[in-house]
Amino acid sequence: NKRNDLTGKRVLITAGPTREALDPVRYITNHSSGKMGYSIARAFKQRGAEVTLVSGPVDLNTPHGVHRIDVESADEMFETVSEFMDYDIGIFTAAVSDYKPETYSDHKMKKTDDVDDLNIKLSKTTDILKYAGHNHKGMYVVGFAAETRDVHQYASEKLKKKNADCIIMNDVSDSSIGMNSDENEVTMIFKSGEDVHFEKNDKEKLAADIAEVIISRWQK
Ligand code: PMT
Repeated sequence: NKRNDLTGKRVLITAGPTREALDPVRYITNHSSGKMGYSIARAFKQRGAEVTLVSGPVDLNTPHGVHRIDVESADEMFETVSEFMDYDIGIFTAAVSDYKPETYSDHKMKKTDDVDDLNIKLSKTTDILKYAGHNHKGMYVVGFAAETRDVHQYASEKLKKKNADCIIMNDVSDSSIGMNSDENEVTMIFKSGEDVHFEKNDKEKLAADIAEVIISRWQK
């Protein structure tokens, strides 16, 4: 039965943005809505998998039957995800902040009369996908690549650097697809050098197509 071919299998999905706090009232984030990741979670649940969704702050309902864990920062997402390295499939859809403020101010930062240019020092966050690619225990690792130029080239570099089995690339310079829209257009690239392209479509429909391709590759 095709619909239930993932019964007993565990799938980890990250989704949404992260928030990197500067002080109790301010943070750095991005435009990710979580729609792509939530659609993928729903698609894998419909295929019978046990799905754990590690989610940044989004305004979406949890797909039926999916186990959702809410996190805020890249650090928290990393801590949570690192507990699931023995899962069968991992899909890293989240738009994780690459940098976070180096220091957190316990009190609200004040505007001062003598400071016109305020510099905020940022430090690198842990690359969760890269960590998974190098530390998993038998996981089929799928990352995303959000680019605004040289999409294919950068995505191929991410495939290698992060030791992923597949990278799903999308062009986020086109505001009608990608971040915070209902549609997307993606190309899945594999280690073998093969590409699988899906034309612009609703994220729900695309997620089902993406799940189908991942499942058949993983089963090989
Ligand atoms: O949420 P939506 O509004 O539906 O939009 C969907 C999306 C555009 C966010 C999604 O399709 C997408 O492209 N997600 C990845 C966004 C991203 O941060 O891409 P990146 O090229 O910067 O990162 C590459 C990969 O490394 C991604 O799988 C990312 O999850 C992962 N990463 C990045 C940094 C980090 N510190 N840890 C990570 O795991």
